[in-house]
Amino acid sequence: MKDLTPNPADLDPIEIASLDEIQALQLKRLKWSLRHAYDNVAMYKKRFDDAGVHPDDLKSLADLAKFPFTYKNDLRDHYPFGLFAVPRSEIIRIHASSGTTGKATVVGYTKGDIDIWADLGARSLRASGLRKGDMVHNAYGYGLFTGGLGAHYGIERLGATVIPMGGGQTEKQVGLINDFRPDGIMVTPSYMLNILEAFHKQGLDPRESSLSVGIFGAEPWTNAMRLEVEAAFDMHAVDIYGLSEIMGPGVANECVETKDGLHIWEDHFYPEIINPETGEVVPDGEPGELVFTTLTKEGLPMIRYRTRDLTRLLPGSARSMRRMEKITGRSDDMIILRGVNVFPTQVEEQVMATGGLAPYFQIELYKSGRMDAMRVFVEVTPTATGEASKAAAERMLTKRIKDMIGVSTEVIVGDPGDVPRSQGKAVRVIDSRDKG
Ligand code: DLL
Repeated sequence: MKDLTPNPADLDPIEIASLDEIQALQLKRLKWSLRHAYDNVAMYKKRFDDAGVHPDDLKSLADLAKFPFTYKNDLRDHYPFGLFAVPRSEIIRIHASSGTTGKATVVGYTKGDIDIWADLGARSLRASGLRKGDMVHNAYGYGLFTGGLGAHYGIERLGATVIPMGGGQTEKQVGLINDFRPDGIMVTPSYMLNILEAFHKQGLDPRESSLSVGIFGAEPWTNAMRLEVEAAFDMHAVDIYGLSEIMGPGVANECVETKDGLHIWEDHFYPEIINPETGEVVPDGEPGELVFTTLTKEGLPMIRYRTRDLTRLLPGSARSMRRMEKITGRSDDMIILRGVNVFPTQVEEQVMATGGLAPYFQIELYKSGRMDAMRVFVEVTPTATGEASKAAAERMLTKRIKDMIGVSTEVIVGDPGDVPRSQGKAVRVIDSRDKG
């Protein structure tokens, strides 16, 4: 793999500033953001008043813990534009995430917000090893989803060439990658596996492709998956994180030279980790739920937004700003099976570690009598299709899940193509527990 370490002279000075400098900037911006939310959004005014706190009470960064949380439901309750802090006419872009239940959550951006998003997108791409003049194939979905346009503006801001492919049409994706020879690709990790399969089907060697880096996010993925994709394409695989409520892709990004977790762009988003049950802030290094406060967002300021994403904060490494460990999963996606907490990422690790299995899987929850039970659907690689290899893989994965995660599961090993393929964010868990 190519050495893609960026030239330090190309970084934003704040990326390598001292912690004192970063914290001073955060405090200044945090005061502004609390005041902006309080003065311009009725919900925040009421929430702060009810909690007996005022923006002037914030004297230090730690004082943020006195302020109330904001939840996804708050966006739904004020659907569509009720949490905007500027007149609608100053909002130049709307995005929305559909979610599986209830109303969509709608977010809005001012011109200034879009500008900062493009800057942070470019910063994220640079951290990933891309630079001005490179070409980037963007396979995140365009439209209301923030992935496509978020990445697009970042690529342009970097001064790179964007191929605005979007999701779907997998065979065509491979054709374009082959013909245009991009340096980088931005796509969900699960859809990258789909693209990988299409390379093989077209008789192309993915290691011969022009790609030197893939920037994967929008869903959890493991270091085991990183190794799989890096080996398959002979390229770097780095993690990009974001969420619509806070901005979109580019809230945090890994550095290609270290790949040791995602640096949070803390000059614009202030992170806290809390105990999800008590709401208490936990010290850096301890796991919990990630909470973000926007520091510069004009259109939709978010104060202590509960992401539901589980991770922990680590000190800076390749950059001064703190890192978040790769996300284990969302608290809503946690499966509790006979008292044991299970995340789909844990199952992914075990699938990857089992010889003869392809990197596709889906989990089904069902009722066995009155007990919850879990079934894992996987498939063999095209070179291991015999009944004996299937039986061996089934035994091995069942044992690994029992030994490493601590739950008994049924494992069903299918043939190549049996597990549904992802077109964007993978559906990892099918819940059939209500269906008798
Ligand atoms: O998924 C934004 C995005 C687009 C990020 C493209 C990265 C690349 P939403 O649709 O609002 O926004 O979903 C946000 O997706 O709270 C996490 O649960 C999950 N997520 C996003 N990035 C990662 C990641 C976009 N790198 C939700 N690792 C978040 C794990 C991620 N989960």
